[in-house]
Amino acid sequence: RLRICINTGGGDAPGLNAVIEAVTMAACNRGWDVYGIKCGYTGLLNTEDIIHLTPDKVDGIASTGGTILGTTNKGNPFMMPVPNAAGEMEQRDLSDRVVENFRRLRFDALVAVGGDGSLEIAHRLSQKGIPVVGVPKTIDNDMGGTVISFGFDTAVSIATEAIDRLHSTAKSHDRIMVVELMGRNAGFIALNSGISGNADVILIPEIPFDIEKICDHLMDNELRGHRYAIVVVAEGAVPKGGDVIAKGSGEAGRQHLLLGGVADYVAKEISRRTGKDSRSLVLGHLQRGGSPSTFDRLLSLRFGAAAVRAIEAGTFNHMVALRSPDIVMVPLGEALGVQKRVLVDGDTVLTGRDLGICFGD
Ligand code: F6P
Repeated sequence: RLRICINTGGGDAPGLNAVIEAVTMAACNRGWDVYGIKCGYTGLLNTEDIIHLTPDKVDGIASTGGTILGTTNKGNPFMMPVPNAAGEMEQRDLSDRVVENFRRLRFDALVAVGGDGSLEIAHRLSQKGIPVVGVPKTIDNDMGGTVISFGFDTAVSIATEAIDRLHSTAKSHDRIMVVELMGRNAGFIALNSGISGNADVILIPEIPFDIEKICDHLMDNELRGHRYAIVVVAEGAVPKGGDVIAKGSGEAGRQHLLLGGVADYVAKEISRRTGKDSRSLVLGHLQRGGSPSTFDRLLSLRFGAAAVRAIEAGTFNHMVALRSPDIVMVPLGEALGVQKRVLVDGDTVLTGRDLGICFGD
């Protein structure tokens, strides 16, 4: 009778609860015991909150947002902030304690659900002897090794709906509406929702933009009678010749906030240069909240069930991945070595260009 545990780490993403449900059901149906670790890896340092997951505890959670286990961006056991004797915070490596607790609780495997940060930790714990299976999660879709991670489809749907709604208000006022979307250093959310939502301009980190070119495009449109516009900006987008600002989870948004935000910058520059009235907005965490889309729900359930099959087969230090139409196992080291980015000459960008969308280059 195996005893397995599961945690969710990093920013939340729609579909986490579906993974938890699938892991619990697939494991319980094999007669195993499943335990939920609270708040990423911190629940393996302070183990009193660990919960026994049973079918009744996960019944119907697949359709809900967030994670019943909680999550954190600040739970790296290799660099845990702890107060020293002087009461100042310092970073300490507490990974041995995680390994000890894992063994003391007689766990046979850990299903680690997370993005590149959390799965990097999983990889390192695996090298210290914890049998780990990873499940890739990120709305940004920047995880290597898998065609898509869960959470992305929901984020794109929410962003597209927001863009759709901006059209009528922009048109009523003959305004330029600039909307900033998440994605860290990758432009997948902005690109996919911008094209689906009929944006006029899409700015992504992979294609540095020239504000002059954007203004020329908008003024050409205006001459043709299209007096309003929707500009979609990925939070990590940068002007040509500008420094890459976005570096890590959350940092993209926060750095831009210090600068007033990339959308704010673009909107102000457009107004200054064209005289057009413009407004900016940041869609923010709405892109991560609420129920997963049907696609994400199914993908998460498939990922969770595949993780349990991997444990049964003894395939550790791997993560589940989508290689359509199959779920495959990819070595964690291999997946973590890839930083997935939008292909600037890929089909989706080419489609945008064929539709007349300006990428600012
Ligand atoms: O990685 C997911 C993500 O939502 C990014 O798109 C964004 O930059 C970041 O997390 C926001 O992080 P936080 O929730 O810490 O503000």
